Amino acid sequence: MKILGIETSCDETAAAIVEDKGGKFSIRSNLIASQAAIHAGTGGVVPERASREHVKNILPIIDGAFRRSRLTPSTIDAIAVTGGPGLITSLLVGIEAAKTLSYVWQKPLIVMNHLAGHLYANFLEHSRVAFPLLALIVSGGHTELVYMPRHRDYQLLGQTRDDAAGEAFDKVAKLLNLGYPGGPAISKLARQSDRRAFRLPRPMIHARNFDFSFSGLKTAVLYETMKTPKRFRKKKTLRDLCASFEQAVVDVLVEKTVRAVTKYKVKSVLLAGGVAANETLRTELRERLASLPSRPAFFFPSSLLCTDNAAMIAGGAIFAARQEDFTPWENVEVRPNWNLA
Ligand code: KG4
Ligand code: ZN
Repeated sequence: MKILGIETSCDETAAAIVEDKGGKFSIRSNLIASQAAIHAGTGGVVPERASREHVKNILPIIDGAFRRSRLTPSTIDAIAVTGGPGLITSLLVGIEAAKTLSYVWQKPLIVMNHLAGHLYANFLEHSRVAFPLLALIVSGGHTELVYMPRHRDYQLLGQTRDDAAGEAFDKVAKLLNLGYPGGPAISKLARQSDRRAFRLPRPMIHARNFDFSFSGLKTAVLYETMKTPKRFRKKKTLRDLCASFEQAVVDVLVEKTVRAVTKYKVKSVLLAGGVAANETLRTELRERLASLPSRPAFFFPSSLLCTDNAAMIAGGAIFAARQEDFTPWENVEVRPNWNLA
């Protein structure tokens, strides 16, 4: 089975073709037109500009996905598209393209939840994921701990009450003038710096639930910069602040995930979403999980599959196709606030 995936939920126009060869996945093509440079000037995504860029890029990127894979539209079995959550004006571009192609090519359509796509990026590369599992989804818009007893069955254990983890990275980067997206910039500066130089809060780390909160941490960073702004002209001080901030985010994410693993006795732990590309998070979570008596298996996608892409949408759609979960193109609706669970 071969599926064309289309993703336009935020600021990346992406198309990919994934093939399922009897349970083994092969990414035949995976193209992304990033708008990061366009949004860098504003320190975040401007929805109208994002949507205009998607309109410009969508057909060339789909065309490119076919060329790269050396496949033709007649050889694919289905089209998958992100239906939400995301920016409505961005989502609509991908959805309209997918609906049109479904009608013209007479191919079944699968509507994918964007967060399910992030989570399923893990299944593209790892074949030994055992259930029940726990997924920590950390992206620019979401921070969720999700329990899955089986494929496509999602139970929300907790989520952020304000900013998402990626959003906190982006906002802190903005206030430190480090550009957009903030995660990669902060983690680069944080490397080999003093992670204890600044005493920053670990919000909700001791709360007896699986919820998160990152907006207070961002404010704490803001206060540090306001106290004596001049000292941040020194690169070392800036690096130490980035490292201390990154460590605070990682400490909370790791602690809550480990606690959920212990409570729900899962066999696997999946990391997913853009922040899953963070090296410190990967390393510290791996170490903590390895020290647990239950020793759950730990998986995360390669960096290119952590941030927004269409291979994860096509990959997740293969599991939907196996259960024949198709939607006639006439019934496809945009769902900007679509909750995974
Ligand atoms: O999943 P994603 O590409 O888009 C959303 O669905 O939101 O995630 C993007 C987020 C951004 O906030 C970005 O700053 C963050 O992921 N990110 C990182 C890293 N790479 C990307 N955060 C921390 N460390 C990274 N290495
Ligand atoms: Zn995403």
